[in-house]
Formats: sequence, structure tokens, C-alpha cells
Amino acid sequence: MTIPSTPWPPDRAAHAIARICKVNHAGEYGAIRIYGAQIFVSRLLWPRLTTELGELRAHEIQHCRIFKEAMPSRGARPCRIMPLWSVGGWVLGFVTALLGPRAIWACTEAVEATVHRHLNDQIAFLANRDERLRQEILAIRDEEEGHLTLARERMGARDWLARRLYPIIEISVDGVIWLSTWGESAKMVRDLDDTERQA
Ligand SMILES: [Fe+2]
Ligand SMILES: [Fe+2]
Repeated sequence: MTIPSTPWPPDRAAHAIARICKVNHAGEYGAIRIYGAQIFVSRLLWPRLTTELGELRAHEIQHCRIFKEAMPSRGARPCRIMPLWSVGGWVLGFVTALLGPRAIWACTEAVEATVHRHLNDQIAFLANRDERLRQEILAIRDEEEGHLTLARERMGARDWLARRLYPIIEISVDGVIWLSTWGESAKMVRDLDDTERQA
């Protein structure tokens, strides 16, 4: 009898789930830092943006707390490159805020779209593996989708600055996620077949 091979035996799947918690916690912390820096600059330069940015940051704080609470029972430890998420997030928020409101919304759109893609991959992976975490990520994804929609509304048509910022930010966020999971985020995507994605 041939036993079908699976790229994710239970112990490896558990390890991947721990990494999902870890990278999501780190990513939400990075988002807090981005919005924190943007709020800091906006108080001085673009005060009309601070209320909406503050609301987005409040959501990220909540998301960060949810993933932090999900970590211990899954054997996840804080990401070793938290300082990179912290400093990188703050610098990204600070620079885009200095560039103006359109850069702020372009940053939000690029970050949230990248996050949204990763959350969708995780939701597919977690089906039949960790239903509780899957439900939590589903709820968070809905809020992230709200962030993305808001950014797109505020952004309108992408100008030259947004068109240049977008791929740089997207590649940077993907890169830090890859580093945080040692490439497991990419392997997860490769291994998900169409059936799992539709789950
Ligand atoms: Fe979030
Ligand atoms: Fe968000």
C-alpha cells in the first residue's frame, strides 16, 4: 500500500502554525509602528488625517493582542527580527508621512494588500488544521479589508509617487515576512492546491 505523501506532516504543520502566529504578531506590531509614525508627523503637517489613522492603529493594536494571546498555546515565541519590524515600520511611516497624504494612503494600500494576500494563504492553510486560529484570522482579515478599502478611497487614482512607492513597499513587506518565517510563507503558498485555497 502506498501512503500518499504530504508536505505537511502534523509536526511540521504545528511548526508552521506557530510561525503564522509569530509572523502575524510581528506584522501587526510593524503596522502599529507605521501608523504611529504617520500620526506623529500628521499631528504637525496633516492634522485632518490623525483621526482616521488613529482608528486604524487601534485596530492593529487589537490584532496584535489577539496574535500574542494565540502564541503560547501553539508554542510560538516572539519573532527574532522584531527590531526590524519596529524600526522598519516606523521609518516607513515617517518617510511616507513626510511625503504627504497621498504617500500615506499609498503606503496603507500597499501594506494592507500584501497583508491581505498572506492572510488569505494562511486561512486556506489552517482549514482542518486550526479552526480557532482560522476564525480569528478571518475576522481580522475583514478589518484589514476595511483598511484597504479606505486607503483606496482616499488614494483615488495612483499618481507617479504612488506607482513608485507601491512595489517598493510590497516587496519590502514580503521580504520581512519571508525572513520572519524562513521562507515558510512562500512554501505554504506553493503547497496549497486549488482545493485548499477554495476551502
Ligand atoms: Fe492588522
Ligand atoms: Fe491593517
